[in-house]
Amino acid sequence: DASDIEKGTYAHYMLKEMDEQPAVIRNIIQHYQNENGDIELTEGVRELVSEADRVYIVACGTSYNAGLVGKDILERIAGIPTEVHVSSEFGYNMPLLSERPLFVFLSQSGETADSRAVLVEVKKRGYKALTMTNVPGSTLSREANETMLLHAGPEIAVASTKAYTAQIAVLAILAYDIARATGKELPFDLMPELARVATIMDSIMAQKELFEDLAERYLKTTPNTFFIGRGLDASVCLEGALKVKEISYIQAEGYPGGELKHGSIALIEDGTPVIALISQPKTNLNIRGNVKEVVARGANACIISMQGVEHENDDFILPHVEPLLAPLINVLPVQLMAYYAALARGCDVDKPRNLAKSVTVE
Ligand code: G6P
Repeated sequence: DASDIEKGTYAHYMLKEMDEQPAVIRNIIQHYQNENGDIELTEGVRELVSEADRVYIVACGTSYNAGLVGKDILERIAGIPTEVHVSSEFGYNMPLLSERPLFVFLSQSGETADSRAVLVEVKKRGYKALTMTNVPGSTLSREANETMLLHAGPEIAVASTKAYTAQIAVLAILAYDIARATGKELPFDLMPELARVATIMDSIMAQKELFEDLAERYLKTTPNTFFIGRGLDASVCLEGALKVKEISYIQAEGYPGGELKHGSIALIEDGTPVIALISQPKTNLNIRGNVKEVVARGANACIISMQGVEHENDDFILPHVEPLLAPLINVLPVQLMAYYAALARGCDVDKPRNLAKSVTVE
């Protein structure tokens, strides 16, 4: 049938979509730069953000997790205070807002009912909204003042992968554009670094078997697992845990490494797999200390690090990218491990139980 053709030679949409990530990043670069290689956003988007004193990112699921990374990028690059909220909470329990809030709706589908309910409410109050979505003409796009497209191509697997990396890249582009407009100093050149990220993504996807091995070793039979990291890595850990829960039904928690000792470390037993993401120089020593703490309690630690903070015996060492963009790279191993864990456990990867691709009820 038609869906078989679209999937091509891939066993699952999820695998195909993970593989598409380097091409998606290149596509995004193409769409958001002019012939001089400078970032080019529409006047409408530029006007919206120039009026704002604070950004409120509103999203669900994987898009929410991408928003957490986006917050750090917006604050550090653009210097604009940014909050991230779960749509289903925000709609009914709106926090105190700044004077000139800008709402940014992150949604792969552009149809998520929880997010739409918030958009309806903020419009009623007279606020402006920007939607970042993969689907042109979707409800959240039509109803917002402006749209930035993700240019990721159709995402069919329930477990979202390429939309996550696309959202982070587009948020980074927005942050850089704000920074440029307000004369902020830029720590590195974004577009060439994104191009490098795409190349590195290719190299990671060319080594899938290694992550299949790690999934077999750490996740095949376990009832539970932890993903730990600090800073940006902690945000990626939330996404890693979500992926593992969604498709392999392993009870998984993403946790900031330093917070573990305040309760959750009680769950570490002999053989509990703990997957540590280590990419941030600032917190390298601390997170390695946290790994020692869990290993001392019997954990089976899998370390995925990055050049610059690597130790020789780490399970996988990713090529170096700017630490601020590390989530674009270190989410790939956790996506792949979740995928292969689900396969090893005999789960239906593309159609996990109880889940829908797009949730149109509140
Ligand atoms: C559903 C999907 C998730 C997705 C979330 C938000 O729960 O199963 O994968 O992250 O909705 O979807 P959106 O289209 O708004 O990004």
